[in-house]
Formats: sequence, structure tokens, C-alpha cells
Amino acid sequence: MLSFQELSTEFNKQFDTQHFPATPNTLYAPGEYFLTIGGKRIRPVMCLLGNELFANIHPDAYVVARAIELFHNFTLVHDDMMDEASLRRGMPTVHTKYDANTALLVGDVMLIRAYEFLQNIQPSYLPKILKIFNRTAREVCEGQQLDMDYAKMKSVSLEQYIHMITLKTSVLLAASLEIGSIIGGASENNCNLLYEFGKKIGIAFQIQDDYLDAYGDAASFGKEVGGDIKQNKKTFLLLHVMAVADESQLKALDVLLENNDADKVEKVLAIYNECGVPAWANNLKAKYMEEAFAHLEEIAVVSNRKKPLIDLANYLMNRNK
Ligand code: IPE
Ligand code: IPE
Ligand code: MG
Ligand code: MG
Ligand code: MG
Repeated sequence: MLSFQELSTEFNKQFDTQHFPATPNTLYAPGEYFLTIGGKRIRPVMCLLGNELFANIHPDAYVVARAIELFHNFTLVHDDMMDEASLRRGMPTVHTKYDANTALLVGDVMLIRAYEFLQNIQPSYLPKILKIFNRTAREVCEGQQLDMDYAKMKSVSLEQYIHMITLKTSVLLAASLEIGSIIGGASENNCNLLYEFGKKIGIAFQIQDDYLDAYGDAASFGKEVGGDIKQNKKTFLLLHVMAVADESQLKALDVLLENNDADKVEKVLAIYNECGVPAWANNLKAKYMEEAFAHLEEIAVVSNRKKPLIDLANYLMNRNK
């Protein structure tokens, strides 16, 4: 059995090759650029871990893992356009380095490339995996639209927020695990439990993502710190503050959100701190982690096989990028 770290190294070795044909260079060079600037590559490793939980890794798991990472990168290229983000993985985003039309097509072609890989796996489970992949892809679009809609709304409930991040982030992590477990020949019940584990990990993952967006260290984070605040994103940090702030803090927040002054991020952060956001963030994250581990415990395999998944979960929750 390979550890989380070993699987990660192995996937990177296989993934870090040329992904696209040479021409037109104006399309494919930007695509290669984005795929070579890194990323944690946790989703493909989750697919491998899902397989490994039940059986030795089948080569198809690497193929699907590759498709999943391509799909993820497609969502990032388009997400950066939607969020007007200029930095990712410490490097300029595709629409910034090239232009918006290029970024659109780079995203599109990555998505298509993902399907080209998928079509090569064993026919016995291809339809089942394709069904999960397609449903997940559609859900990510729904979540991304809700994220944009919520940014324009004055208030959003915690329930609405959890629904939105489940769609935009969590389901892809969950599906990566589940698809891996299908390749590993897991029972339907075990596949479902692993999916639920992934969903809860995914929620905690997005909570950490939101937290880092406000509190991350610019050097390691690789994205612009404060980007969500500038865009009025309804992150759980902002929702918590809206729920607990006093009248004068709420008034100040209202004015800050309506304008885009140079000191917006700094001032919103000051209110976050007054409202005890970091501690609250940690608690909420811990709550979802606990729920995730409860699902993992229920999965009917010997407990030492679960260790790489526990390592992955801990890595994700303590990450600084
Ligand atoms: C970023 O995902 C998008 C979210 C769903 C929060 P990652 O944090 O996994 O991004 P990379 O691939 O490691 O850069
Ligand atoms: C993006 O969420 C989720 C997807 C790309 C589907 P965010 O907008 O928070 O992701 P980052 O912070 O830009 O990575
Ligand atoms: Mg974004
Ligand atoms: Mg976004
Ligand atoms: Mg984010």
C-alpha cells in the first residue's frame, strides 16, 4: 500500500508530461503554462486513495485521476475570470497573462481533454463513472453560479452558503474518492460512505480556503489575499460577522461593502478580528472534520487501510496554500 505522499509523487510523475498538441501554440502554450505552475493535486490523489482503500491500484485509476485534475484546472481558469483574480499558485492567471478569450478556450479544451482520457477506461464501469463525472461537473457549475449570485445579495444564510460550497467544491472531492472506490471494486454502501466522507472533507476544505483568502500568508498562499473581501464574496467569515456584529460594526460593514476603497480589506479584516472569526472558523472546520471521520469509520475495511485518507484529511485542514 502506498502512502498519501507516495501516491502524490507517483501521480505528479505521470501527470507532468505534455498535455496538448503543439499547434495552435496560442491555445496550447497557455494550457501547458497553467498545468505546469503546480497546484496541490489533491483530487487525483483522492481518486487513487479511493481505489487503494479497497484494492491494489488499477491503471484506470491513474487515467481518471488525470481527467479529474484536468477538469479541476478547467474550473480554475474560468473561476479566475469570474473572480477577476490576477494570481494563482503564485503566478499570473491565464486571462491576465494572455487574454479573456484565450482563457475561455483554454478552459474549454481542458474539459474536452478530460473526457478524452475518460473514454479510455474499462467499459465495465465507464457508464457508471461517466454518470458521476457528469453530474458532478453540472453541480460545480450550479455552485459557481450561486457563488456569483450570492456576492450580489445583501445577506445569505449559513445554510445557503453550505449548499453553495457543497456544489462548487465539495462534490468534486467526494466524486474523486467515489470514482476511485468504484475502480477498486467497493460495495455500493462503501462507495456511498466514502462519498459522504469526501463531502464533509470538502466543506471543511472550502472553509479553510475562505479562511486563507482572508488570513493567509501572501507568500505561500499564491492567490491575492483579500480577494474574496474585495469581491463581496459571501464566505462563512462574512456570514459569521453579519450574524454576531453589533449595530455600529454592521453599519461600518455595510458602507465598506458598498464601496471599493483602497483600505476595504484592512478595515473588513479589523471587524472580522473584533468578531472572533479565526476561532469560529476553526470550530466550524473541526465540526465537519468530525462528521467526515464518523463516515470513514463506518466503511467496512480494516482500519489500517484508512490511514492514508486520515493523513490526507489532516494535511488539507492544516495547509497554508
Ligand atoms: C482551489 O482548489 C479551488 C477550490 C475549490 C477552493 P485547490 O486549493 O485544490 O487548488 P490547487 O489545484 O491546489 O491550486
Ligand atoms: C472556486 O472557489 C471553486 C471552483 C473553482 C469550482 P474559489 O473561487 O473560492 O476558489 P479560489 O479561492 O479562487 O481557488
Ligand atoms: Mg476564485
Ligand atoms: Mg470563485
Ligand atoms: Mg477561495
